[in-house]
Amino acid sequence: MRAWIDGDLLSDPTGPAVPVVDHGFTVGDGVFEAIKVVDGLPFALERHLARLQRSAAGLGLPEVDLDAVRRGVRATVEGQDLPLGRVRITVTGGPAPLGSGRGDHPPTIVVVAAPMDPAAPTTTVATVPWPRNERGATAGLKTTSYAENVIALAEAKRRGATEAVFANLQGHLCEGTGSNVFYVVDGELRTPTLASGCLAGVTRALILEWYGGREVDEPLEVVAAASEIFLASTTRDVQGVSRWDGVELEAPGPVTRDALATWRRREPELLGL
Ligand SMILES: Cc1ncc(COP(=O)(O)O)c(C=O)c1O
Repeated sequence: MRAWIDGDLLSDPTGPAVPVVDHGFTVGDGVFEAIKVVDGLPFALERHLARLQRSAAGLGLPEVDLDAVRRGVRATVEGQDLPLGRVRITVTGGPAPLGSGRGDHPPTIVVVAAPMDPAAPTTTVATVPWPRNERGATAGLKTTSYAENVIALAEAKRRGATEAVFANLQGHLCEGTGSNVFYVVDGELRTPTLASGCLAGVTRALILEWYGGREVDEPLEVVAAASEIFLASTTRDVQGVSRWDGVELEAPGPVTRDALATWRRREPELLGL
């Protein structure tokens, strides 16, 4: 693992580095990105940086110095063997008073690169009772305030699943704790719209561009009519769902296999620093 903070590579990447009064640490005032690395090359880096900038703007953080972030990515990825890895970029409000108000320090920028295990070919899902708030101030932003996801994922694991999926306040299918959902009904591939409150997943967008699919908001119960379901994310790529709340599904089903084949064929186009 290599870690970089505000321009410097850490000699001990697991040692202390962020001030205890950093607003990201004290109140979750920060944004982040997770980027896949294949053979030492980040995947879809510019798309992730664009989303980082959008998340920062949504949170009211100053414009992120993306050139500094690119330097951090290069410094952490280079010099280590990463056949498969993950880069994690975190930008916070920086040192601040101990309440919700921001201080006047510049943001903290952290980049970490570490090896990653390949995702399992299929996964299992549990839906959770807490709604995603599609009308909330942070809807659709990739913020470091992920405690709801932590609770939901723990509940899914308690129920023997590996991902938790939320409905939104309207009861519509929304997203997982770290993934977007695609499902097939009547032979048609569908996924919730961004108005559902889901994150604008980089993987989701590329599947829609490269493979197709219809964006539509439907009640969570629509999945009962699905012939197959898959999750999409940076760490999972296209991952078939073999069980959804106790219902067994063919995984990966024919559409999932086809989408994954398209993904594997096109993926090299977006690898690079
Ligand atoms: C809440 C949430 N939804 C969806 C995704 C999938 O997004 P991406 O494909 O950009 O990884 C993530 C990714 O980490 C996420 O945290």
